[in-house]
Amino acid sequence: PQARQFFVGGNFKMNGSKDSIQSIVQNLNSASLPSNVQVVIAPPAPYLVWASEHNKQPTVEVAAQNCYDKASGAYTGEVSAVALRDLGIPWVILGHSERRIIFKESDELIASKTKFALDSGLKVILCIGETLEEKKAGKTLEVCKRQLEAVLDVVSDWTNIVIAYEPVWAIGTGLAATADDAQEIHKEIRKFLSTAIGSQAESVRILYGGSVSGKNAKDFRGKDDVDGFLVGGASLKPEFVDIIKSRE
Ligand code: G3P
Repeated sequence: PQARQFFVGGNFKMNGSKDSIQSIVQNLNSASLPSNVQVVIAPPAPYLVWASEHNKQPTVEVAAQNCYDKASGAYTGEVSAVALRDLGIPWVILGHSERRIIFKESDELIASKTKFALDSGLKVILCIGETLEEKKAGKTLEVCKRQLEAVLDVVSDWTNIVIAYEPVWAIGTGLAATADDAQEIHKEIRKFLSTAIGSQAESVRILYGGSVSGKNAKDFRGKDDVDGFLVGGASLKPEFVDIIKSRE
């Protein structure tokens, strides 16, 4: 018994061209998408406005893949949450493991960016998840809790946050977590959230991300705490539509 709307995000990462992003958007526009599934696509920053202007699907929205925790100023190369709002981009992905690992973003920076994005009127897809090393050391939950704790310290209203649990070992490897494992961790994540924000935790969507495909998306049906997916590679392909329809 849950009223959480199924959510499918597509994170294009630093992929795509005018042509390929046009065909992805056209493919979505011409698909008959379920009216009860919320879809958010995240093209690279240079293509955001184009994608948002050419999207014709009422259930599809656009997300940036990052933004900074300042509105404006001398921060060469950064993306302002306020500018995203100004351009009508409603969402931003924050805390992706590639930002954490390659660009050395700390839990605290991600928390600060999350707070700033929310205060600026954006909705946030907040990514968490453990590395293979941390998994092997039995630290999966500890890591997820630590990453969430940093945000819980500065944000009390989670209405506009969607959590994406993305185990780093599953990203781009073709080796997705099993539906049972994902469910178990999502349940623990929700339990932890509820200790901090109470019953609000019941309405926070928790997505699974990591090698989700048109083939395996259906395996996660019936998993109560898996409220959708954050898709990387497969979001660049026509099978993204199969993932969106995987609960039909
Ligand atoms: O943010 C989505 C992502 O990291 C998962 O990527 O390619 O394994 O679906 P992929």
